[in-house]
Amino acid sequence: PQAAAALAEAQPAAPAAPALPKEATVLYGSQTGNSKKLANRLAERLKGQGYEVTVSAMNDFKPNTLKKVVRLFIVVSTHGEGDPPDNALGFYEFLHSKRAPQLDGMPFAVLALGDTSYEKFCQTGKDFDKRLEELGGRRIAPRVDCDVDFEDAANGWMDSVLAALAGEEAAASAGPAPAGAGPAAAAVSAAAPAAIEYSRSNPFRAAVLENLNLNGRGSARETRHLELSLEGSGLTYEPGDALGIYPENHPQLVEELIEAAGWRSDELVPAGKDGELPLREALSRHYEITQLTKPLLQQAAELTGSSKLKELTAPGQEQALREYIAGRDLVDLIRGFDLKGVPAKTFVPLLRKIPPRLYSIASSPKAYPDEVHLTIRKVVYEAHGRTRYGVCSTYVAERAEPGTEIPVFIQQNENFRLPSDPDTPIIMIGPGTGVAPFRAFLGEREETGASGKTWLFYGDQHFLTDFLYQVEWQRWLKEGVLTRMDVAFSRDQEQKIYVQHRMLEQAKELYAWLEEGAVVYVCGDESRMAHDVHAALETIIRREGGLSEEAAAEYLKRMQQERRYQRDVY
Ligand code: 2AM
Repeated sequence: PQAAAALAEAQPAAPAAPALPKEATVLYGSQTGNSKKLANRLAERLKGQGYEVTVSAMNDFKPNTLKKVVRLFIVVSTHGEGDPPDNALGFYEFLHSKRAPQLDGMPFAVLALGDTSYEKFCQTGKDFDKRLEELGGRRIAPRVDCDVDFEDAANGWMDSVLAALAGEEAAASAGPAPAGAGPAAAAVSAAAPAAIEYSRSNPFRAAVLENLNLNGRGSARETRHLELSLEGSGLTYEPGDALGIYPENHPQLVEELIEAAGWRSDELVPAGKDGELPLREALSRHYEITQLTKPLLQQAAELTGSSKLKELTAPGQEQALREYIAGRDLVDLIRGFDLKGVPAKTFVPLLRKIPPRLYSIASSPKAYPDEVHLTIRKVVYEAHGRTRYGVCSTYVAERAEPGTEIPVFIQQNENFRLPSDPDTPIIMIGPGTGVAPFRAFLGEREETGASGKTWLFYGDQHFLTDFLYQVEWQRWLKEGVLTRMDVAFSRDQEQKIYVQHRMLEQAKELYAWLEEGAVVYVCGDESRMAHDVHAALETIIRREGGLSEEAAAEYLKRMQQERRYQRDVY
């Protein structure tokens, strides 16, 4: 049921194309590391075919070398409202600017990662694909747009890229032998690892060791400190990495859905690689039931023949469709369109596989060997007359008691890393659960005896009930692991005070740290906090550095390129 749509047409290999050297460049742009993983996988497969391959993050690639690239493969995700990930920004801007060179038939192909529950699905990949063609590149395989469950679609794209290259070689072999044809393929991928490797597609079942509510009585929040055991998994991680969790849907919602649709809970239904499962189990842990997507509604309209649903998914209805989807789940769909009686066997397989949720890891592996800690805030809200529960946060808050085993995997995040030099000062901005990775950072700096200065900006609603890990920050302050801490409790006084207000109050000192080479980290809410913090940084740089608005923006941009401004925002 995945919406892996091949939208653009591949252009056939030019007849009698002169053989190009067997070289390829694979560039990735990634917020979470999935693109990197897939880029490396493609690189291995190309090497297996004798290609000399360069793989690199887009922000490590020198744009002025683009002219020399023989073949270009791009793997890129889309962030938020259709934006490129941070480490793709520079290359994206370059390629869309007047400075971009003509590509004179350079072979290329694009793999786009995204999420069909967003309006601007795979927008960044689409932009790259279109732009490379505009610049005169030659698309050798159609772009594939992957939904969250990307494995099969991504592998399919790689197959088509390799098939296209093989086709070109066959066509060219009538001509002169290609320069520098590499060694034969077979041996490269032969060495299979002996031990089981746990991954996104093969998660480890981690036992819950501890599950505590960090908020005090009377708080509006419920934030869980979850400790999981990685013992025996062979999994390792670094501060800055995230943990992926496969949650289970709320049992009550599953019952409501079965009831609304008039299904039998023990009926067997297909559940992908899990084979056939009893319906209740399939809906609990295999399928996503809390989110509607456009492809799902379109397919449901076809399957049921519902004229109301056909109307809503018809061309020109995008706005109405978007409004309908927002905040609604499968129970709303079944009830709202009178779909009771739709056969489970054909309807259920239209659903997406339940996607894993990612949480920034809150522990240093040096401080807690074989463990991983998370900071998870329970999400509950009202929408369209019903109470809605965040799938994973509610699962953790209500049903992950000690001893429970939870399927997990490590999601590396190269874009959020402590500086390699332990003397480099760091500034950490993380209100609410955004503070999680900074507990990992400080734990790591304590364990390694790093001497660089550290400064934490933290905030939440109330000092008394919402000061997450208060005792640990205070110990680190006392011991000098944490040099400074400024806190903003937004609702302890009439006027809202946020972390960015504290930053502005400390503008002089903060700018001095920047000038000393400090690395700035921001973690937490993207839409408001990270945006306001960015503006505050610009203001501080402008005022304290005596710079124009443009020069201050340039200063921050340079910091970003030098990895001195790193964000982990959601
Ligand atoms: P509020 O809920 O009182 O508005 C962690 O969630 C903290 O981030 C809370 O204190 C919350 O305040 C605050 N917060 C909300 N919007 C923010 C913004 N635009 N900038 C910084 N902090 C914000």
